[in-house]
Amino acid sequence: MSKSVTYEDRLRGFDWSIAERELEFREGEPLNIGWHCSDRICRQGKGDKPALLWEDHRGAEKRFTFDDVRQLSNTVAAFLQRLGVRPGERVCLFMDKIPELYIGFLGVLKMGGIVQPLFSAFGEDALLTRLENAQTTAIFTQRKHALKVRKILDKLPSLKHVVIVDAEPGKLQQREVAFDLERETRVDQFAVHATLRETPSVLHYTSGTTGMPKGAQHVHYSIVGQYLTSKWVLDLRDDDIYWCTADPGWVTGTSYGIIGPWSLGITQCVLDAGYSSERWYAFIQKHRVTVWYSAPTAIRLLMRDGTDVARRHDLSSLRHLASVGEPLNAEAVIWSEEAFGMPFHDTFWQTETGCIVITNFPGMKVKPGSMGRPFPGIEATVLDPRTYEPCASAGRVGLIALRPGWPSMIRAYWNNQTVYDSKFRNGWYLCGDRASIDQEGYFWFVGRDDDVINTGGHLVGPFEIESALLEHPAVAESAAVAKPDPVNMEVVKAFVALKPGHRGDDDLELEIMNFIRKKLSPLAMPQEIEFVDSLPKTRSGKIMRRVLRAREFNEPVGDLSTLMND
Ligand code: PRX
Repeated sequence: MSKSVTYEDRLRGFDWSIAERELEFREGEPLNIGWHCSDRICRQGKGDKPALLWEDHRGAEKRFTFDDVRQLSNTVAAFLQRLGVRPGERVCLFMDKIPELYIGFLGVLKMGGIVQPLFSAFGEDALLTRLENAQTTAIFTQRKHALKVRKILDKLPSLKHVVIVDAEPGKLQQREVAFDLERETRVDQFAVHATLRETPSVLHYTSGTTGMPKGAQHVHYSIVGQYLTSKWVLDLRDDDIYWCTADPGWVTGTSYGIIGPWSLGITQCVLDAGYSSERWYAFIQKHRVTVWYSAPTAIRLLMRDGTDVARRHDLSSLRHLASVGEPLNAEAVIWSEEAFGMPFHDTFWQTETGCIVITNFPGMKVKPGSMGRPFPGIEATVLDPRTYEPCASAGRVGLIALRPGWPSMIRAYWNNQTVYDSKFRNGWYLCGDRASIDQEGYFWFVGRDDDVINTGGHLVGPFEIESALLEHPAVAESAAVAKPDPVNMEVVKAFVALKPGHRGDDDLELEIMNFIRKKLSPLAMPQEIEFVDSLPKTRSGKIMRRVLRAREFNEPVGDLSTLMND
């Protein structure tokens, strides 16, 4: 957004049809994210413009223009059709941040499939739960992750095709098929499936307090919100070089690592490598990155490495910085001003919201520690937790709530209407977070309103961890809670009561940690296990995670009598 256009200007007369018009979408006509992010951009004469500048940990590089992305996503779509995958079927992408992931995402959408991106570090149990729930038909993966798929294949009768993107000749096993994106004959013309605004597009799995992770179901119309927030909040302009550090296994990596930037025809770069401050700064310097979207955990890591590392690089290309996923503490904002000469702008949203909903607009006064104000078109408030009515006075802490109906909001949890319905009160959608609003309408994040653990910006559900812990032969019962961490904000801590005959020593602690890492993921792995004789429970026998969590954070436990009556 140019500095002369203010937040107030944007609010006046706001209507989502601004984005519909710019995306050339008319009610009743087909709308397909795959087509809009590639063919449409080529039609605008940007076919030769770089869409993706990719690099991996070994320094290998690849470049794709928008016309490459258009043709290669056609190629993926045609391949899926040849396999017999039908519109509406779920196609999982289970890959590192390789070009196949970004291009495959558009390809699945072009043939009318529903994309199910899953984080490639997921272990076999995490994968099984999500593929089983979605009744997934096909999965794209790499050789190094195929092993995990092979182990669970027998439990997945619906999974007809395992597509290996880097297959070795003659090494395919049952249901596996090779697909080499760059060697396939390119498909120049593909009849894109005529999806409509409400046709399901993306299924992202997210965790809650109870039950297994749920599939948050987005529709093609979500592009309207993702497009406009990318333009106004991330401030993306035609000549930008944009870098979103998120993995498309999570919603930030798809809403703002694929759909948002490409719907605007923006060049983006991807670094498929782990964190290192040297490498990150060198990447920004090399590609002349102008807009950078990252997360507080990454900023805290950069802070830890100090401003000197930043100063050794030419970071003068940077124009705008934004952050998401966890509270952006005031120190991080102040430090980024010192290190980069500009603040990180906080953005608050969720898998369920699909796009940024509360934010510090470019040009708007940044109050370090505050998330900013609602995006135009988003009605947001905080509700009194007893009445579910908006808190009457400024500064009162309540539940963050949004008036449903913005374009990118999920339409359902996959096959789980009950949990979806439980998210609404008095006509408001509840985010599951607490905050206060100040006199000027700025939101101040306080914390989650449930037992979900936010580790480095990734939500981890305690129930999934506890279920996996129960599969260990020594575990009788357990509780997984958050424990404070200086870099990741929170990490998982497990309280474990053992079955008779087992001793809670260091060896067993390590064994259980590894057990969870392999089954679920490194994120879900407890960083500490405390062996206990028993766990605090309500009268009806529910484990009181809140009591354990409060102890970890040195916080008051709160009213135990209500907990006891649960
Ligand atoms: O608790 C909030 C936290 O992350 C949750 C959403 O997580 P997820 O659905 O995985 O999506 C993450 C990326 C959009 C929220 O309910 N969260 C997200 N952004 C912020 C945040 N907490 C504080 N400040 C933020 N800016």
